[in-house]
Amino acid sequence: MSRALKICCFATATLIATLLAAILIIYFTMLKPKQPKITTQQVTLKSFSGLLNPLHLNVTLGIVVTVDNPNYGSFKYDNTTAFISYRGTHAAEASIEEDTIPARGKHDISTDVLVIVDNLVTNYYFPEDYASGCLNFTSLTTLHGQAKVLNFLKIKATTYSTCDISVYVLTQNASSVCRSKLLY
Ligand SMILES: *[C@@H]1O[C@H](CO)[C@@H](O)[C@H](O)[C@H]1NC(C)=O
Ligand SMILES: *[C@@H]1O[C@H](CO)[C@@H](O)[C@H](O)[C@H]1NC(C)=O
Ligand SMILES: *[C@@H]1O[C@H](CO)[C@@H](O)[C@H](O)[C@H]1NC(C)=O
Ligand SMILES: *[C@@H]1O[C@H](CO)[C@@H](O)[C@H](O)[C@H]1NC(C)=O
Repeated sequence: MSRALKICCFATATLIATLLAAILIIYFTMLKPKQPKITTQQVTLKSFSGLLNPLHLNVTLGIVVTVDNPNYGSFKYDNTTAFISYRGTHAAEASIEEDTIPARGKHDISTDVLVIVDNLVTNYYFPEDYASGCLNFTSLTTLHGQAKVLNFLKIKATTYSTCDISVYVLTQNASSVCRSKLLY
């Protein structure tokens, strides 16, 4: 091989390697679809009445979920339901309507749930908890959807979050501690 040809081959190889590296970097930093995350979730007590008579108790909880879409493309999630339970008993559910979160956006999903009091008062632990002034609930919210960067780069995404909610009967407020997880 002539010297000129060697230099030319070497230059071409270097150029191709550089291009490949650049494409990989762009793919992993910008194009690769990533899982959206539920970053915060909050549960508040929207309304509370019937304090003196537990049979006419009326409790409405407000749930706000913030979803963070890290993609340079949109995340579209399907219709879903948030479930709330009280010591293993189904206590309430709320539907969340499908929507699309734009690229690199944050999105609050909020919904109100009316607790089914009949299900609470028949629970074995209810009288004791009511007397102690604190009712503990857990909530489960799951979002299924699809993150899409370019038309051919998509992934199915599922993100889910659970909260431990304590409703204080006397002060009529609530506190919540939430965790979220990704499912692949
Ligand atoms: C409970 O409260 C909600 C909202 O404040 C209201 O729409 C509903 O009618 C109430 N239910 C009862 C049984 O009082
Ligand atoms: C989602 O819910 C809305 C309103 O309840 C309904 O109009 C729509 O058809 C549902 N979409 C799917 C895919 O089920
Ligand atoms: C309810 O939850 C709170 C906070 O997690 C805890 O301190 C309390 O003991 C729980 N109460 C009952 C009756 O389980
Ligand atoms: C509930 O209200 C009481 C009195 O207004 C307050 O001391 C307490 O910090 C509140 N708790 C929460 C979780 O907001």
